[in-house]
Amino acid sequence: MPESAQMSVIGKAQPRIDGPLKVSGTAMYASDFHFPGMLYAVPVEATIASGRVTKLDTAAAEKMQGVRAIFHRENIGKIFRSVQGQGFEGIIDERRPPFEDDFVRYYGQYIALAVADTFESAKAAADVVRATYAKEKPNVDTDLKADDEPDVVATSYAPTKRLQSERGDAESAFASAPVKLDQTYVTPTETHNPIELQAKTAIWEGANLTIYEESQGVFNLQGVLAQMFGLPKENVRVITKFVGSGFGSKLWPWTHCALAVAAARQLGKPVKLVISRKMMFQSVGHRPRTQQRVRLGATTDGKLVSLQHDYVNHHAILDNYHEDCGEATPFHYSVPNLRVKFGRARRNVGSPTAMRGPGAVPGLYATESAMNELADQLKIDPVRLRVLNEPKIDESLGIPFSSRHFLECLELGAEKFGWSKRKPGVGSMKRDGLIIGWGMAGCAWIAARFPAEASVQLRDDGTVRVASGTQDIGTGTYTIMAQLAAEKTGVPLDKVEVALGDTSLPAGPISGGSMVTGSMVPAVFAAADNAIASLLTIATTTPGSQFEKRKADNLAFEGGRVFVKADGAAKGVPFADLLRRANLRLVTGNGKSEATFGNPKPMFSTHSFGCHFVEVTWQPAIARLGVSRVVTVIDAGRIINPLAGRNQIEGAVVMGIGMALLEHTSYDPQNGAPINSNLADYMMAVNADVPPIEVHFLDFPDKEINELGARGIGEIGLAGIAAAITAAVHHATGVHVRELAVKIEHLLTSSVLS
Ligand code: MOS
Repeated sequence: MPESAQMSVIGKAQPRIDGPLKVSGTAMYASDFHFPGMLYAVPVEATIASGRVTKLDTAAAEKMQGVRAIFHRENIGKIFRSVQGQGFEGIIDERRPPFEDDFVRYYGQYIALAVADTFESAKAAADVVRATYAKEKPNVDTDLKADDEPDVVATSYAPTKRLQSERGDAESAFASAPVKLDQTYVTPTETHNPIELQAKTAIWEGANLTIYEESQGVFNLQGVLAQMFGLPKENVRVITKFVGSGFGSKLWPWTHCALAVAAARQLGKPVKLVISRKMMFQSVGHRPRTQQRVRLGATTDGKLVSLQHDYVNHHAILDNYHEDCGEATPFHYSVPNLRVKFGRARRNVGSPTAMRGPGAVPGLYATESAMNELADQLKIDPVRLRVLNEPKIDESLGIPFSSRHFLECLELGAEKFGWSKRKPGVGSMKRDGLIIGWGMAGCAWIAARFPAEASVQLRDDGTVRVASGTQDIGTGTYTIMAQLAAEKTGVPLDKVEVALGDTSLPAGPISGGSMVTGSMVPAVFAAADNAIASLLTIATTTPGSQFEKRKADNLAFEGGRVFVKADGAAKGVPFADLLRRANLRLVTGNGKSEATFGNPKPMFSTHSFGCHFVEVTWQPAIARLGVSRVVTVIDAGRIINPLAGRNQIEGAVVMGIGMALLEHTSYDPQNGAPINSNLADYMMAVNADVPPIEVHFLDFPDKEINELGARGIGEIGLAGIAAAITAAVHHATGVHVRELAVKIEHLLTSSVLS
């Protein structure tokens, strides 16, 4: 550890170490890699959402200039099915290999692949492939009723009980509760729209496959491809240097990836495949539509006595995706009687997948909206209602929280926002001729560790290299890794090299669940400790070393120097000098940390918490609504880099404004196509929609997660925000919108006319 807290790089607002590469255009994203003889592939999409391909006419396409092949079921070669392994292994949402049969289950499913010398030729060829179909009417019905399924169902990850959590007798407690709320909340299909399109380049050298891909999980992709192409895992190398965001859509492999690999195999050339924005809406996941019934029973003074959360998500014909809307429900508030249960409804859509804050984000929209409506019904301030129902322990598991400071979040948020000035009456607050509405909501997100490995090298030029096969998906992992290595080795950040995104590196975690930082801390620290231990041994055994014949135990390492404990750091020798004297380029330490995620018998309930306070403005004369102010407080343990942390929360709040007011993917009931499948028609929050966002972090280190007490901060900022916005909308307009996104037509019934 450094001599003083001043020297520590932890907790400092460090700009991104990869920033210069990105702004200068030299950062290599998956589609930036070029290879001699490389060919381009463009998939052909089904234009029906249900039925069969009866005939595929590829003759015209095959004759086009520059075309190398049109692949389909007959000539793509063998692609095996993959199977789930242990933990996060072998995960893929759409398990069916591409082209496995003639059936079409969703609009945009790939039915052929054109490969040509240029992207333009491949696209032109794909466009002239003609398919004849036996069409069936697709089911993209938006009203979701749970299909008939057993009590335990398969999901993308593991068999899961549909009755997720139960205590007491929620039904009878609800029946006898003096105050009741029973409402259904709907969230629409939302599509991930990272700016970087999904891209991959596949290269075979004999029985070895290398793939450049924008993956949020290179090791899972390696395992899945090894299975699909019948290879030993070590024959597959996945490289992901930079990712232009993913939001979950790049967590697990998609079918076009296998197509690129199969085409490269058949043609013996590197093949690049970059999908279109339209395809991004069809075949690489989305947040599924959810329909959630929430029933709350309370006493007249605001104590919850019963909570029931019954929800349904749509999923595809080809997958088992479960949107875990009940993730936060069982522990968020104190309530003696609770029941959380889910069902699913199959539709002719591409497979859903995790999207930023999967489950908890739509889930907390519903449960926090219900809490806000209950507060109105009880005429209790919504902050007060939450304080009244603060749990002492995680009542679902009967264990303590490792670190829960939700009440402090509420207190700080209310103070910074000026909540005490809120007048409860609908339409009662005005500023500059506009009606203003204030709303708030709480949020939570899981905090845990995945297994992680890292290596740290001390080198003879005084630099350090830290490596792990995790990824930086734009969230700041390169910078955090450099900070962790700098903290332990005392080397300044600009002398730390970080290597990520490669299956040839020590196994790193998926960039998912906001768990990378928390997972990497102990692995990098252990690796650095081991590198330092080797260095001390070298110091005591190298002939001519100042520390020759001393005991390693009597030496210490601090600020990049080795010294005799009794003499103090000032008399230390830089590690580079010791390495040079020993004629060593470097010493390496490896570190590993175990998972806490999925622990069947945890001692503590570990989560991050937070809250949002939101102001909207409402102009009834022109039915204009906007978010004008947001204060967000996050309790995520120790913040390693407040700059990157604030970026994450601000980004999530921007996405939350989009979720509440704009985002929704609509399927055409005739052909099942997502019809707003482009960035013009799919509305997202942009600069003009976003007011100043005030982000505050509490600073309560959570030592259950790692020695720094740092939990993750990516996803929590999106949880709860939509409920805070719809509460503010109600406060301004008197309209309860229970189906996102809030549209002008919802507000035309507003009783607030001026
Ligand atoms: Mo996040 S949905 O775990 O990428």
